Amino acid sequence: MGTVVDAAIKEANGSATEKKPSVVFVLGGPGSGKGTQCANIVEHFGYTHLSAGDLLRAEIKSGSENGTMIQNMIKEGKIVPSEVTIKLLQKAMQENGNEKFLIDGFPRNEENRAAFENVTKIEPKFVLFFDCSEEEMERRLLNRNQGRDDDNIETIRKRFKVFLESSLPVVKYYEAKGKVQKIDAGKPVEEVFEAVKAIFAPEHDKVAAA
Ligand code: ADP
Ligand code: C5P
Ligand code: MG
Repeated sequence: MGTVVDAAIKEANGSATEKKPSVVFVLGGPGSGKGTQCANIVEHFGYTHLSAGDLLRAEIKSGSENGTMIQNMIKEGKIVPSEVTIKLLQKAMQENGNEKFLIDGFPRNEENRAAFENVTKIEPKFVLFFDCSEEEMERRLLNRNQGRDDDNIETIRKRFKVFLESSLPVVKYYEAKGKVQKIDAGKPVEEVFEAVKAIFAPEHDKVAAA
């Protein structure tokens, strides 16, 4: 740490001197408002928003060889193998070049989490967790109207089950590390964003420490 020798080693090793981007994972059930709030965060705090679901849907549209597999998984509300999703996230981060990313809807299960950590060596700065009742999420999803194959009641039920069984344990994992910022996401958009702002505002750390 900080010695001349360490600096020399880092200098000699090109990849070690490359600065890792800062990452916030944005998690929450389907319809909890992750995408909506990420758009607000981008506008106010200079992050780049990467939605794993959006990247997977773009991959289907691009006609990639994985397209049919991804489409089938999404229709069933299942989690696409990490290898596929992580490649898309890495590519998007590299192409974008920003140093601050909101990664929305990822990691969705333990496999996602461990593989991302192993491949990228990036540890999230914190995890923003949108806490919302199933009843409210279901209402929002059925009204979303974006023509998504998975916003039907049958798939929605499957997605809720996957969220409870596979995604919540990831939130618990980060909670145990003291990294989760939980937001009550059942309120109107503006009120949720007030709570989000309090977390991202630069003075937050000072206020929290006081
Ligand atoms: P997610 O990305 O978590 O699945 P979205 O941001 O796409 O959720 O939101 C799902 C739907 O609910 C969208 O139609 C969105 O406009 C709406 N929505 C988002 N946040 C709220 C909120 N706080 N109150 C009411 N509706 C909301
Ligand atoms: O986050 P979003 O609601 O857009 O995700 C839609 C679907 O994309 C999920 O239900 C899942 O099938 C797939 N997905 C995935 N792995 C992720 C994120 C999304 O397989 N990390
Ligand atoms: Mg979304």
